Amino acid sequence: MKYNFDEIIERQGTDCLKYDKREEFFGTNDILPMWIADMDFRAPECVYKSLHQRVEHGIYGYTFISPAWKPAIIDWNKRRYGWDIKEEEIGFVAGIVPAISFIIQCFSNEGDGILIQPPVYHPYFHVPEGLNRRVVTNPLQLQQGEYKIDFEDFENKIKECRIFLFCHPHNPGGQVWEEDTLRRIADICHKHNVLVVSDEIHCDMTLKGYKHIPFASIGENAAQNSITLMAASKTFNIAGLKSSYHIIPNENIRQSYNDYLSKGELNFASLFATEAVAAAYNQGEEWLQQMLEYVEDNIDFMQNYLKENTPRLTMIRPQASYLVFIDARALNLTQKQLIDFFVKEAKVGLNDGESFGKEGSGFMRMNVGCPRATLKEALDRIKRAYDKL
Ligand SMILES: Cc1ncc(COP(=O)(O)O)c(C=O)c1O
Repeated sequence: MKYNFDEIIERQGTDCLKYDKREEFFGTNDILPMWIADMDFRAPECVYKSLHQRVEHGIYGYTFISPAWKPAIIDWNKRRYGWDIKEEEIGFVAGIVPAISFIIQCFSNEGDGILIQPPVYHPYFHVPEGLNRRVVTNPLQLQQGEYKIDFEDFENKIKECRIFLFCHPHNPGGQVWEEDTLRRIADICHKHNVLVVSDEIHCDMTLKGYKHIPFASIGENAAQNSITLMAASKTFNIAGLKSSYHIIPNENIRQSYNDYLSKGELNFASLFATEAVAAAYNQGEEWLQQMLEYVEDNIDFMQNYLKENTPRLTMIRPQASYLVFIDARALNLTQKQLIDFFVKEAKVGLNDGESFGKEGSGFMRMNVGCPRATLKEALDRIKRAYDKL
C-alpha cells in the first residue's frame, strides 16, 4: 500500500469533536473515541497541497467558487457512477445537514409530514422536529443481517408527507440500496407527489461487491422529483471544511431552491472548501481505493474478533462506509446498561443505537475508520469488559 493508514496521528488538542469533546459527550475523557463519523486518517496529499497553496498566498478575501469545482464534480459522477449531470444542476451548500434544513424550509410548511426510515442518522429526526414538521416513520426491517423497506407501510405513510428523507447508502445500517428498491421508491413518491431528498454522502465508500446507483440516475420519475445531496467530506475526511453540493435536474425545483438559497447567501462557499473538493475528486481516487481496502480489512478484523471473543455481540456488516452497527441484543441489557457497559466498563465511546430512533434499541454504532491498532485496542477493551459480564 502506498499510503500509511496504520499511522496514529494525535488529534487531541486540535478542536476535534471526536477527541476533544469526550468529557462533554461521554462524561469522561477516559475513553477511546469510536463515534462521530470522521476518520483518523490524514486526507490525501493532493488536498493538503491545494490548501497549502491558498494558505501561503496570505490573502483570504472575498472569493467566488473555484471554476474547477463543477467540472470536478461532473467528472467524478461520470467516472464513478456513469451519471451525466450538467453544470447548472449543481449548487453549493456548506454541509448536508444544513441543506436538509434549507430544503425542508423551502418545500414544506409547519405541520407537514417528513418521512424517514429509522434507525437512521439522528438529524433526520432533529432537523424536521426543530422546524415544527411532523416526523413520520417507516421503520426498516432487519432481515438476515440486512435492512429492508416495508413498502406497504411506506406507501401508506408517504400519503401524509411532503418530503422523504432517503439515506442512501444508509447510516447506521450501511445498506447500499439496489436498483429495484430505488425504482419502487421513485414510482411511489412520484405517484403521491412527494419530494425525495436523497442523501448520498456515504456513496463513494461502497465496499467489495456493492455498487452505488445515484437515485436520480435511474429514470425520469426519480430525476424530476428529487434533490440529490453529495459531498467529498466523508470520502476524503474533509468534513471540517464544511462543503457539500446538490444536484437538481428538475428546473422548477432547482429554481425555487436556488432562489431560496440566494436570498440568504446560503450558497456561498469558503475559499478552502471548493478548492479541496476539486483537488480530491481530480487526484484523490487512488487514495480512496486504498483507504477502502484498509477499512474493509478493519471490518473483516472486527467481524472475526467478535465471533471469536464476544459471540453475543454481532454486527451488521456495512455494505458501504466505515460505520458498524453492533447488535448487542443478546446481552439482554437495558439501553442505559448497554451504554454504561461500553463507556464505563469497556471505556470505548460509541454512538447510542437509540439515538437513531427506538428501532436502534439494543444496538451501538462503532466507527472503524481508524488505524488497525486503534481498532484492536477498542475491541480488546470491549472483550475485557465482556469477560466480566
Ligand atoms: C447520512 C448522513 N448525512 C449527513 C451527514 C453530515 O453531513 P454534513 O457534515 O455535511 O452536514 C452525515 C454524517 O455523519 C451522515 O451520516
